[in-house]
Amino acid sequence: MALRQIRLDGDDILRKKCKEVKEMNERTKTLIADMLDTMYDAGGVGLAAPQVGVLKRIVVIDIDYENPYDNPYVLINPVIIEKEGEQCGDEGCLSIPGKVAEVTRPERVVVKFLNGDMEEVTLEATDLFARAICHELDHLDGVLYKDIAEGPLRDAEAPEEEEE
Ligand code: NI
Repeated sequence: MALRQIRLDGDDILRKKCKEVKEMNERTKTLIADMLDTMYDAGGVGLAAPQVGVLKRIVVIDIDYENPYDNPYVLINPVIIEKEGEQCGDEGCLSIPGKVAEVTRPERVVVKFLNGDMEEVTLEATDLFARAICHELDHLDGVLYKDIAEGPLRDAEAPEEEEE
């Protein structure tokens, strides 16, 4: 398990456009494994390569954070080819810790990408999964959710303490 440092808002690298991945190699495999470790360690549902300082079009997503490593998605060179409907809800980002804001996203998207074996996949996603895909893909073009949020960033509520 290897963790990488998560770049925070204000770091120029988060504003750059990422480059397509042409081939899978050991370096990229290690990057993807480290991105998963870093995402789970930070308690996020998604992470994009520029958030760990690498300008490649790679994102990892796992909205089922209660079962880490069970079924993570690795999306390489992802492109949204269909969008439908609207959902409005709070969004946060590992690069903007402790904050949330309301963002409108499509309710349903269809995304085309290469998986970790560089095989082409077309996937339909709705609800939180669709939101996560849109959020992470924005990172690949230097866009942060705060750029498109409906209102100001608010403090995220601290998780409730568990009672014994
Ligand atoms: Ni983010």
